[in-house]
Amino acid sequence: MKTIIVYSSQTGFTKRYADWLAEKLRADVMTLAEAKKQDNKYFDDADGIIYGGWAMGGKIVNSEWFKERIPAWKGKKLVLFCVGASPNGMPEVEEALHNALTDEERKYAKAFYCQGGISYEKMKLPSKLAMKAFAAMVRKKKDATEQEKDMGEMISHSYDISDQKFLIPIVEYVREETA
Ligand SMILES: Cc1cc2nc3c(=O)[nH]c(=O)nc-3n(C[C@H](O)[C@H](O)[C@H](O)COP(=O)(O)O)c2cc1C
Repeated sequence: MKTIIVYSSQTGFTKRYADWLAEKLRADVMTLAEAKKQDNKYFDDADGIIYGGWAMGGKIVNSEWFKERIPAWKGKKLVLFCVGASPNGMPEVEEALHNALTDEERKYAKAFYCQGGISYEKMKLPSKLAMKAFAAMVRKKKDATEQEKDMGEMISHSYDISDQKFLIPIVEYVREETA
């Protein structure tokens, strides 16, 4: 089975998951910039195609590249995965996953979430400013819930909550026999 993993990563969490996944699935792995240099045949020959992008404002960065190609890749195992700073189980994670694919796209592709973290050290300046402003807004919110207050505190500094265990459902899904 030929599987290709393509990813977009700013601070390394999505890259780490893409590399872990490539090892588990013995797949080819490359950045989106590298994928754009490949010809269509390279992807046509694959049995599975996986795209991973980091979460930005509830969306998966550069996922349009993958979504636009779903109609052409219908017979393949198709996976979209998102890596964000939110811990699993937060309502916005479910919402983002649901919004990642339309009902039509969901017939052919499946979306997953892997918790990543925050690395202010590796973030580009505009991202750093946006995150710091967002963290301050959450912390200062008047009627914030306990969960929101904790989140505001958490995202004010760097942390890493990534774990290979979040890839288990993706690996199982890719290996599952197609009916
Ligand atoms: C501008 C901006 C917006 C973000 N929005 C979200 C978000 O909506 N949900 C989330 O879980 N994480 C969000 N994050 C956090 C990143 O998705 C998180 O740090 C991720 O692990 C980065 O992955 P990377 O290391 O592959 O770039 C945001 C980060 C930035 C800089």
